[in-house]
Amino acid sequence: MESFIRGLPKAELHVHIEGTLEPELMFELAAKNATTIGYASVGELHAAYEFSCLQDFLDIYHQGAAVLQDANDFYRLTTAYLKNAAADNVRHAEIFFDAQTHTNRGVAMGAVVEGLSAACANAEEQLGITTGLIMCFLRHLSQDEAMTTLDQALPYREQLLGVGLASSEVGHPPSKFVEVFARARAKGLHTVAHAGEEGPPEYVREALDLLHVERIDHGIRAMEDSELVARLRYEAVPLTVCPLSNVKLGAVASIAEHPLPAMFEQGLMVTINSDDPAYFGGYVGDNYLAVAGDTGFDKEALTEMARNSVEASFASADRKSRIHAEIDGYAASEAGRR
Ligand code: ADE
Ligand code: ZN
Repeated sequence: MESFIRGLPKAELHVHIEGTLEPELMFELAAKNATTIGYASVGELHAAYEFSCLQDFLDIYHQGAAVLQDANDFYRLTTAYLKNAAADNVRHAEIFFDAQTHTNRGVAMGAVVEGLSAACANAEEQLGITTGLIMCFLRHLSQDEAMTTLDQALPYREQLLGVGLASSEVGHPPSKFVEVFARARAKGLHTVAHAGEEGPPEYVREALDLLHVERIDHGIRAMEDSELVARLRYEAVPLTVCPLSNVKLGAVASIAEHPLPAMFEQGLMVTINSDDPAYFGGYVGDNYLAVAGDTGFDKEALTEMARNSVEASFASADRKSRIHAEIDGYAASEAGRR
């Protein structure tokens, strides 16, 4: 099963680049930039990765991201992620970044976007992986701050695929960000939002009705509301589910109890993603592997979710059909082997 999963062509649609910062690179950049992490060693830092909720994690995640100072730091971070993604045969990756985490520390928007974009361009050439950048607004901050951030990002409009909504969910509903999402849509940017990770099903509805997002990130708590489930199925709204993340942050007790199988069986357009792989114990292939081991998904179901990931991406129609053809070829060679 492991080699099947690693080789399965797939897209990753929910990964925060700051969440791919491995402790080794964090310490190296801290030393280079003369910044402090607050932990003495890689081992001590790893030991701190015990979270009881999203906020616990976000506190450490923001602290870690503070080692990123210049365009080359963002380049190295993204290059390392894309290398890991390619090892899981990710053929297309849509990468989230938290601009405000950096601009609020005095790092220029240009340094962030240029570093990320250069790494993406290089990986497209070297690894044949296609990519896109999605800038997430931090929902614990105000809509005015999000609007300022959008203004700062617009000179780099051509390097952006879309905008998203991340950070502390409960108490910060999508309704807080209606105008900034409308403005982003008017600029032709794609839109997604985290909803129903820790927040209630109502936040998923708000994200769809008020922000008009094209995908929901997580969405697991939608399962508490059967009318919403029916709507998500009818509208085929893609959900970017992150199983290891949900267990690590205590949203779900274990992989065996994860709602992903129920979501899949009820006909929702689910995809499997890593969220913050350096913090949650695995990259996208490890997430596929965890659900295959503990929920009983077979190869056909995993292949269907890989197809969903391609279909739910914002890749061009041509790129999508090429990756679908790769999946077809892979599935056929697997069938021939049996
Ligand atoms: N930012 C990084 N990871 C996140 C998550 N799981 N939920 C919300 N915001 C995040
Ligand atoms: Zn996320």
